[in-house]
Amino acid sequence: AAIEFGLDAPYTVEYHDSVDSTNNRARERATEGTVDTAVVADEQLGSRGRLDRSWTAPSGGVWCSVILQPDLPPAHVPLVSLAAGVATATACREAGVDAHLKWPNDVLVGDGGERGGRKLAGILTEMEGEADRVSWLIVGIGVNANIDAAELPEGATTLRAETGGDIDRRLFVQRLLESLHDQLADPDGVLDRWRMYSSTLGQAVRVELPNRVIEGEAVDVQFPGGLVVDTGSGREVVHAGDCEHLR
Ligand code: BTN
Repeated sequence: AAIEFGLDAPYTVEYHDSVDSTNNRARERATEGTVDTAVVADEQLGSRGRLDRSWTAPSGGVWCSVILQPDLPPAHVPLVSLAAGVATATACREAGVDAHLKWPNDVLVGDGGERGGRKLAGILTEMEGEADRVSWLIVGIGVNANIDAAELPEGATTLRAETGGDIDRRLFVQRLLESLHDQLADPDGVLDRWRMYSSTLGQAVRVELPNRVIEGEAVDVQFPGGLVVDTGSGREVVHAGDCEHLR
């Protein structure tokens, strides 16, 4: 583990050439009491995605897990995930792509049908806490950066594929962490900024919940991060699940 990342970022950065998952490494550090630290790796061999999916993380990506200790009840953690989505989309836009957010926090480019576009980045938030207070929170951010799209699963894209060039990953991590820090410093504005970046609002969507499926028009997001769906026979708020754009 090389700690020297040579960055002037709002969080301490711990860099690794290769780990199983930066979220796993961050969890170890969090249980030791480390906070305000970002674990970054060049490649991950056992990377994880949302909903128990795997995530392909070869060398060349931006694989980053930030350990935070916000003074929040666990129920408000979804707002931090949305904030991380906004921060990631912001950094991707600065890198020259027209990035949008698909609820809750997939970063997409283009508007490809059901998937809602080509997937450029994803976020996996994990926490431990008591009923009323988070002990630690890990915000895992994966951005497909200097990678050929052919190395990734179908439906994924990369900054390289979209722009034809490679980014300076150290600078990207710095901007990403600054952007995350800015979002978390102004939690009251997170939902409005999410709305500005969203490609989900106004769309016909299908959301798979653990025990049922909801279809309707996505009309808003509401605190602390639920998607408001107008089903035609009323409004429902969904708090977790997988969202597909239907047109
Ligand atoms: C998703 O869209 O399903 C979320 C993907 C999250 C991937 C990132 S890469 C850094 C961090 N470490 C992991 O194992 N996963 C997250």
